[in-house]
Amino acid sequence: MRFLLLLALLAASALAAQKRYDGYKVFQVKAKDLPSFHAIAQLYTEQSSIYDFWTEPRSLDDPIDIMVPPTYMQAFDQLLQTHNLHHRVKIADVQSAIETNLKGQAAPSVAQEPRSRSGSLRYKLNWTEYHDYTTIVLFLAELAQNYPDIVTLITIGKTHENREMYMVKISNTQTASPTKNAIIVDGGIHAREWISPAWNTWLIHELVENYAAHPQYVDNLDWYILPVMNPDGYVYSFADDRLWRKNRNPVNGPCVGIDLNPIFLFARTEGGAAGNGCDQTYHGPAAFSEDESANVRDAVLSVANGRTQAYLTYHSYGQYWLTPWGYTADLPEDYPQLFDLAQNAVNSLTAVYGTQYTIGSSTNVLYVASGGSDDWAKGGAGIPYSYTVELRDTGDFGFLLPADQIIPNNLEMWEAMKVVAEYVTGIV
Ligand SMILES: *[C@@H]1O[C@H](CO)[C@@H](O)[C@H](O)[C@H]1NC(C)=O
Ligand SMILES: [Zn+2]
Repeated sequence: MRFLLLLALLAASALAAQKRYDGYKVFQVKAKDLPSFHAIAQLYTEQSSIYDFWTEPRSLDDPIDIMVPPTYMQAFDQLLQTHNLHHRVKIADVQSAIETNLKGQAAPSVAQEPRSRSGSLRYKLNWTEYHDYTTIVLFLAELAQNYPDIVTLITIGKTHENREMYMVKISNTQTASPTKNAIIVDGGIHAREWISPAWNTWLIHELVENYAAHPQYVDNLDWYILPVMNPDGYVYSFADDRLWRKNRNPVNGPCVGIDLNPIFLFARTEGGAAGNGCDQTYHGPAAFSEDESANVRDAVLSVANGRTQAYLTYHSYGQYWLTPWGYTADLPEDYPQLFDLAQNAVNSLTAVYGTQYTIGSSTNVLYVASGGSDDWAKGGAGIPYSYTVELRDTGDFGFLLPADQIIPNNLEMWEAMKVVAEYVTGIV
């Protein structure tokens, strides 16, 4: 009895500790000219500890989603009026959206998917819900145990909070060859982008559990997949704050966390990533200052021999397929080839449900983001086909993408991934 009471108290305090977003709204803002665009970009670089930019300012054509706390609603409204910005409310109450999303209703279509695609009976992990880090790691360990000839679970180091980080190597030992090409995939750099690990684990499952349906992808290629690159942040986003983005390094006094994305800067610039420790995009003291990014750098460099042809880093949201560079508006020399492959991949993706993805370089003329792991993979690790992919959606739910979209997201992205895999196989 006393034990049950204790459990109830623990559950209640866990709930109470969760950061709440009552009255927070997400606005979609569209700049109509350069001055109004710069007004938004300035808000992003100077006040992103107050205004949480769910999407970055990219160009005049791309709408920008901004979460506004209730105490700043008036100031924000003023800004909209001053700059005559087009806007509409996308999420009227973020707290309600979080609660609706947590229920994770499965769509009827999910039940009609083949069992192996919505979740295997063998594993606790499935793709009708989002799962915590423990469940993901358990799945990876079980898969490696079930398929020792194909799957190797590699520990690549520890996080700031001492969690083990994992890279999954998928390689058929029966067809092992030093001339095989390889693909590296990462995800979960930003904690709140739950769809990214949910896609990466599905990809691992599809390659391995459904090997017989398409053995060529595993026989002719080696895969290195880092499904959750920011485990501390991911755990925190489940337990404490659904909208947490950074890691959990308390390097800035009251403001915890460093954005792991710009930490990968191959050419570190001040563009995009903010220098204020309380900002969502705080980039930390130096490139690779964080355990997580240093571990990933070392792991990638240890496997990225001359045969690694593609690097895909998965984020959400916005439905973009982006090429380097993020740190400069210049395009890489082989941009036409990068664009072609992206175009073919996106065509196959769109053919599934009609989902539209925008293809382009990470940096549009107007705004220099500060680059991410794809910039580094190309410029620093020499992997030619490096992309950042921003998964579903375009902002109706944003980071709070309902769980019933996981499988459709994954099925369409799988078609794109097959195009990349086939292309990469053929490179000699
Ligand atoms: C998916 O996993 C969750 C949690 O383990 C479980 O409640 C749910 O029933 C599972 N869904 C399916 C379709 O198996
Ligand atoms: Zn991201």
